[in-house]
Amino acid sequence: MPPHIAVLNGPNLNLLGEREPEVYGRTSLAEIERATRERARALGVECSWVQTNHEGELVEAIQGLKGRSDGAVINAAAFTHTSLAVRDALLAVRVPFVEVHLSNIFAREPERRRSLLADLAVGVVTGFGPESYRLGLEGIVGYLKAR
Ligand code: DQA
Repeated sequence: MPPHIAVLNGPNLNLLGEREPEVYGRTSLAEIERATRERARALGVECSWVQTNHEGELVEAIQGLKGRSDGAVINAAAFTHTSLAVRDALLAVRVPFVEVHLSNIFAREPERRRSLLADLAVGVVTGFGPESYRLGLEGIVGYLKAR
């Protein structure tokens, strides 16, 4: 069975393309999903895709990784900076993941420079726009192959 990678997206990412384009660019989440799925196919991995604006749904999606996904690419959006519940879910399932962000969170407001998830991640990709997803996918797939 090919490895399964879950891509999880948090709040407001459904508005990509129209939301603060000077920060996040003009590419929609649907376009990022298409490109990510294509890349996954080329890498020989299966990929699932979730976007939710609700913290509890993100927690449940993370809980659902156990026994189903070999790895994950996670853009928890604002929950990155605020959610102990998301952190606890990641601690509970212990599925390897790469944290991704379109913008460079370290070049932004102080409250965005802190991630409650990053120390649990295999690695973090931040600041490459939609390419962050491709780099994150390649990162997690490479990590799983090397293991
Ligand atoms: C983001 C960065 C977060 O600070 C912000 O809350 C987002 C998007 C990014 O991809 O750059 O919603 O995760």
